[in-house]
Amino acid sequence: MNKTADAHERQLAVWERWWSTIDGRPGEIVWDADDTDLAADLTSFTDAFHPGLPVIDLGCGDGRQTRFLARRFRTVVGVDISPAAVERARAGENPPNVCYRVVDARSSEQAEELHHEFGDANVYVRGVLQALPPVDRPQAVMSIGTLLGSSGALFAKELPPEAGAYFAEVVERHGLWPELERVMRLIPPGQITKDELVRLFSPDWFEVISAGAARIDTVNVLPDGEPISVPAIYVLARTRPVGLAYRHRGREPRRER
Ligand SMILES: C[S@@+](CC[C@H](N)C(=O)[O-])C[C@H]1O[C@@H](n2cnc3c(N)ncnc32)[C@H](O)[C@@H]1O
Repeated sequence: MNKTADAHERQLAVWERWWSTIDGRPGEIVWDADDTDLAADLTSFTDAFHPGLPVIDLGCGDGRQTRFLARRFRTVVGVDISPAAVERARAGENPPNVCYRVVDARSSEQAEELHHEFGDANVYVRGVLQALPPVDRPQAVMSIGTLLGSSGALFAKELPPEAGAYFAEVVERHGLWPELERVMRLIPPGQITKDELVRLFSPDWFEVISAGAARIDTVNVLPDGEPISVPAIYVLARTRPVGLAYRHRGREPRRER
């Protein structure tokens, strides 16, 4: 196995281990979304999401946010690298407008297949790009471009360095509680700055509509009862008109002479 394939396998193994050892204790999934999380962001992206298109929840985990999305959008497809996550998601109380697929965001072939199945889609991402090794992020963004096609829009919300500072401060105040300790032990830490996030969306394929501050609002609370609400950043983007996008799609970046 070459080095890249090996790194991909390790990433899958990390998430599969996480999702296959969840036992359902309250607070175990530290990032579990409160329903206010989506409500707060809808104002940023509803106008950009064409209502006739399906929404792909990329890196959907156990489908909690996928089900919230399904209250607002006609068809929602949750996709995740981890078969154990998708199994959990499918076992949830899903409305009929939700379905799930096992997909690695770094695979162009899998993105093409999904696009072939559902056509152009809006893409929703919460806490996934920052969790990928930086070297894998451009590939995931290429997959996002494929899923958007010419008419979809993307909303991605990710953890910046301020999130690390937030957790350092709450650990200072409360000590390391078991659920957070489990995340830190099993999942390699990841973060991305707003500039890095925006730069992933190359202007020859994407138009960044807006970017800014957000929160990851969770259903969980700190030991003192305060809700866990983590500083986040978002980007809203769409693809440029077909001609320009297809001219550069799938090619190596042009070298400056
Ligand atoms: C921090 S969790 C966020 C889950 C969900 N978006 C949420 O907000 O509840 C990151 C998710 O991304 C998934 N993931 C990680 N790498 C991925 C990849 N290459 N392709 C698809 N999903 C991936 C993980 O399995 C995990 O479910």
